[in-house]
Amino acid sequence: MLSSNISLENKTVFITGVAGFIGSYLALELQIRFPTIKIVGIDSITDYYDVSLKEERLKNLKKFQNFLFIKGNIADKELICQLFAEHKPNVVVNLAAQAGVRYSITNPDAYVESNLIGFYNILEACRHAVPEVEHLVYASSSSVYGSNKKVPYSTDDKVDNPVSLYAATKKSNELMAHAYAKLYNIPSTGLRFFTVYGPAGRPDMAYFGFTNKLREGKSIQIFNYGNCKRDFTYIDDIVEGVIRVMQHAPERKTGEDGLPIPPYKVYNIGNNQPENLLDFVTILQEELIRAKVLPTDYDFEAHKELVPMQPGDVPVTYADTTSLEEDFGFKPATSLRKGLRAFAEWYADYYKCK
Ligand SMILES: NC(=O)c1ccc[n+]([C@@H]2O[C@H](COP(=O)([O-])OP(=O)(O)OC[C@H]3O[C@@H](n4cnc5c(N)ncnc54)[C@H](O)[C@@H]3O)[C@@H](O)[C@H]2O)c1
Repeated sequence: MLSSNISLENKTVFITGVAGFIGSYLALELQIRFPTIKIVGIDSITDYYDVSLKEERLKNLKKFQNFLFIKGNIADKELICQLFAEHKPNVVVNLAAQAGVRYSITNPDAYVESNLIGFYNILEACRHAVPEVEHLVYASSSSVYGSNKKVPYSTDDKVDNPVSLYAATKKSNELMAHAYAKLYNIPSTGLRFFTVYGPAGRPDMAYFGFTNKLREGKSIQIFNYGNCKRDFTYIDDIVEGVIRVMQHAPERKTGEDGLPIPPYKVYNIGNNQPENLLDFVTILQEELIRAKVLPTDYDFEAHKELVPMQPGDVPVTYADTTSLEEDFGFKPATSLRKGLRAFAEWYADYYKCK
């Protein structure tokens, strides 16, 4: 196991996408665990999904004294440079992105702006930062594996065949980070997240969309006739993984040629236990009834439609988490039952279903 080489006590952490699902949980947990930490969070509050959820997440974060929120776009280079000069972050976590596979088919511009130009600006700001940024951690995605046949997906696998622009931008982030690690010795770690879910999650994701539709009495469409397998990963496991990773930057070393060996790593963070979409939906339905989001006599079969695969989708995602376990002594393990129960209870409370 790697020992930590970064203490987060008294450090300034710059988090992009802080009003997002993962960013808000991360910022909250960091404040709780490290009361001396200062968090500077940026988010442009895109309207990709209901912005009131983002405002609600921010409301919780603003209760902390050491939390500073800036509403801004990471594609605005001047703003990012100015924020780095002003706050001098020690650790940077880039979570801001235009997420979603399907949306990238009809809205490519948003992906180029946030995921490519935005990430480039973060790299440039790290390059010029004084003092040096100790560690850049950034979100990649399981979607980089495209329609690879070999499972579980390993970070050693070839990932040169993206099947969506979203995936192409995430793979590009890894390539750009590698070049900056090599050229400017910026330690960076990319994290390939696998289908993250939980309370106050993203309404564009299947479990949330299914819940909305079932509640409205509409039918839900289960893609690939239910023969999809996903490594569903509970938000707390993702946050635990990110916090452990933040505290160990890949070491700077010099090669025989006198040039830096890129301080660069990529890990999978996924549940390592893919679940069949139909089983997932069955547990979700049971938990929605338990939380009183749906009535006990809900006719589930009448609201279920099995349909073919959608463009950009992949039939299976399954994370090999060996290197995460070896280096950080951790792998996600929250059961679907526990995670979906937490989601259903939050949903009932938030949307006043009881
Ligand atoms: N949730 C998942 O299942 C999942 C899986 C794989 C990878 N990821 C990646 O993890 C990261 C966080 O995902 P999430 O689920 O929290 O998504 P999210 O959409 O909830 O959060 C992203 C946040 O970034 C903000 N944002 C977008 N473009 C911006 C810009 N140009 N400048 C500033 N802010 C901007 C959005 O307003 C949003 O609040 C993303 O990079 C995403 O691609 C998520």
